[in-house]
Amino acid sequence: MTAPRKTPPRKILVTSALPYANGPIHIGHLVEYIQTDIWARFQRLCGNICHYVCADDAHGTPIMLKAEADGVSAEELIARVGAEHRRDFQNFLIAFDNYYSTHSPENRHFSELIYARLRDRGHIARRTITQLFDPQKRMFLPDRFVRGTCPACNSPEQYGDNCEVCGVTYSPADLIDPVSVLSGARPEQRESEQLFFKLADFREFLANWLAEGRTQREVANKQKELFSEELFEWDISRNEPYWGFEIPGEPGKYFYVWMDAPVGYLASFKNYCEREGVDFDEYLRPDSDCEMVHFIGKDIARFHTLFWPAQLHGGGFRPPSAVWCHGFLSVGGRKMSKRHGTFITAETYFRHLNPEFLRYYFAGKLDDGIDDLDLSFDDFKARVNSDLVGKLVNLASRCASFIEKQFGGKLRGELPAPELFAQFADAGGELARDYENRRYAKAVRAIMALADRANEYIAAERPWELVKSADKKSHAHAVCTQGVNLFRQLVIYLKPVLPATAERAEAFLNLPPQKWEDARAPLLGHAINEYTPLLTRVEDRQIHAMIEESKSGHDESGETSADTSAPADASATIQIADFDKVDLRVAKITAADYVEGADKLLRLDLDLGGEKRTVFAGIKSAYDPKTLPGRHVVVVANLAARKMKFGVSEGMVLAAGPGGEEIFLLSPDEGATAGMRVR
Ligand code: 2FM
Ligand code: ZN
Repeated sequence: MTAPRKTPPRKILVTSALPYANGPIHIGHLVEYIQTDIWARFQRLCGNICHYVCADDAHGTPIMLKAEADGVSAEELIARVGAEHRRDFQNFLIAFDNYYSTHSPENRHFSELIYARLRDRGHIARRTITQLFDPQKRMFLPDRFVRGTCPACNSPEQYGDNCEVCGVTYSPADLIDPVSVLSGARPEQRESEQLFFKLADFREFLANWLAEGRTQREVANKQKELFSEELFEWDISRNEPYWGFEIPGEPGKYFYVWMDAPVGYLASFKNYCEREGVDFDEYLRPDSDCEMVHFIGKDIARFHTLFWPAQLHGGGFRPPSAVWCHGFLSVGGRKMSKRHGTFITAETYFRHLNPEFLRYYFAGKLDDGIDDLDLSFDDFKARVNSDLVGKLVNLASRCASFIEKQFGGKLRGELPAPELFAQFADAGGELARDYENRRYAKAVRAIMALADRANEYIAAERPWELVKSADKKSHAHAVCTQGVNLFRQLVIYLKPVLPATAERAEAFLNLPPQKWEDARAPLLGHAINEYTPLLTRVEDRQIHAMIEESKSGHDESGETSADTSAPADASATIQIADFDKVDLRVAKITAADYVEGADKLLRLDLDLGGEKRTVFAGIKSAYDPKTLPGRHVVVVANLAARKMKFGVSEGMVLAAGPGGEEIFLLSPDEGATAGMRVR
């Protein structure tokens, strides 16, 4: 699939994966939205009809638990996060036609419809299985909410589905000494009946679909490996408590989040079609000749290249025309890390830097493969400053002032180097193929090579000298007209990547929104507007400030990846099990005193219910030690002892406030006694 299959206008429905509604959008997510948005904008620029829809993925256990932890309802959580996601996408110029939610009536309708059709056609099986059950939380545990020792290599602290050390996959019940991540309790094995989607019924359909080049070859091959085994049945139901849609006719059972998530593509599109009067069925009926293209991360390929096409086909809809995968983002050669300030949210980035710079940088890195891509901030700064400011914008600013000041703001009626303009115009064909086939890095390199040629032309002609002699002035006018025309061609070619800059350039050039084809005809005898700087350089201080802000508020252990598939990553939240690691206890202060030579510390002797501890606390500026004995406080009892200049501190006393006189020790209500656990 290297070329458009229909004569224009093609009709395309395009999607990006639906982000979970329990955490912020970060720059790792943005790779995909930027990749898709560039593609969608390119299609529209070429005159194709391209509807780009997305939604929040609003169901599942992690969202249920996050709402619980935040003390809000799931509806409140998804409304808040949904609004934040919309804001972030808008800031990064992601031009969705519709942004919706999987917790919507349309999604319930299509999920139930697809399920009912699959069931009625005999593709749903019913089996009793054994799952791990958390007796404290009173719920069945998803694989990722169980941890234990790997049964193959004995590595501790592995998830319930696979071992990150030896790579072996297993079921959570196989783990040695499993514990629930939610409560720390040892899970029990319990039986319950579940519903399964019989994927094996679609073996031939899927084999054919994969053979048609619908996804990258390495992705297809990986899925095909599964065909040599028996194609498994996919467990699509979950027991209550679960946040999602209850399955019709199955009280207490809910659709697994991955069952209704991709259906969210249809739901969002349907919602849009109803509002805009677009014919939904034309795009979704089994024999549709419209295109349906999904952009996703490689980690969720199986859901999109096996389950989803089979769901669609079995549910009476057309399968996707293409599922394009991309790799993950690393920053500075490492996984994104809170500790290093490289776990950067869209919100934080936007506070410090121009979103188009990230769009340009990612475009310069993205190709049609699934390799991971790295963001190096030195490289980022160099690319933006050298390419966008040094080459692109500079070309306009060099020529514009002469046109404006010397030639009445009007371009000449002919070009002095029409062959150069023609070369730029001819480059459009290859550039279009590169955009179409997601080879953005190649397109960007080629556009910058053109920009070099344009700047070399201006440098060789030296209009700033030509204008000085009366007989060369008209040539200077022609040279600047040529420069402005080349600039316009470059802007059109970069318009999918830099839509806001292109819009400002169109205003400067006094032009309506440009189309791809417009790069073929020169702009002659045309009045342009006054030039104002289109972009300004990236400064080190902006990058530093962004990184510092990304570090603040995060603890010292927050290594995380840009892979958004795990339940607990990609947000600053912790799981209850993390909190459970902190042993908080009520302690009684039995003695308190100044510490000789210490500016800030008081020495506190504590009683933790029979156990004696000494703690050095930085509260001298706020407390007179005489007032403290007898008082109950809260102490971190399992903090590793710290050897200090004045002795060993055996814990930490909790206090609130900014410091100085404003330090307020935390105390339990009356009645709490020393040694009590704090939860
Ligand atoms: O991996 C994820 O972040 C999922 N929320 C993606 C869902 S895409 C689609 F299937 F809904
Ligand atoms: Zn292992």
